[in-house]
Amino acid sequence: MSEMKIAVLISGGGSNLQAIIDNVEKGYIPAKVSLVVSNKERVYGLTRAKNHGIETKVMTRAEYTSTENRDMALLKLLKEKEIDLVVLAGYLAILPIEIIKVYRNRIINIHPSLIPSFCGDGFYGERVHEQAFKRGVRVSGATVHFVNEITDGGPIILQETVDVNFNDNVKKIQEKVLKIEHKILPLAVKLFAEGRLEVIDNRVKIHEKQ
Ligand code: GRF
Repeated sequence: MSEMKIAVLISGGGSNLQAIIDNVEKGYIPAKVSLVVSNKERVYGLTRAKNHGIETKVMTRAEYTSTENRDMALLKLLKEKEIDLVVLAGYLAILPIEIIKVYRNRIINIHPSLIPSFCGDGFYGERVHEQAFKRGVRVSGATVHFVNEITDGGPIILQETVDVNFNDNVKKIQEKVLKIEHKILPLAVKLFAEGRLEVIDNRVKIHEKQ
């Protein structure tokens, strides 16, 4: 079987992208990052991809006459590159229903909270940690899930917690959670690449390594 091809979609610094690249290069993830797509120009995630010889494509909304045209161009590119798995790593644009249907249970997203807390429309980046701080949570964490039509509503693959202390500010919470993201996102991609994830009634069964 030919090596599994991954496309990573980003909008910013790309530390989660870097975690995937590092784990591919050390053989932990049996796959190849074939493409990095950003909906924003001049973000450091594009530099990270170029530093590792990975093809990049910037697809900003302004370059297209409509969001639909941009989204159709993205779907066309994913098909042309024979992408097997799409990873949203801090990707802040909405993925269109057409792509979700074509890539059913083949799109993975990382969210910086324990879904179903602090998720859904409007909950992304630092805002997630601000809400967790204000609520006074004792634990927070990160979730990796498959993407479906509901924002942050797809089957949960992995979650891991972090303790939140009274003296932790928003930045500290974000820092603790980001460390977990860099651990569970590569693990989820590895499990997918090894064919060990099965979705049953919106829940994910993780099969033992054959
Ligand atoms: C971070 O806030 C992370 O929690 C979330 O999206 C942002 C992306 O970070 N997944 P990076 O671009 O991967 O560094």
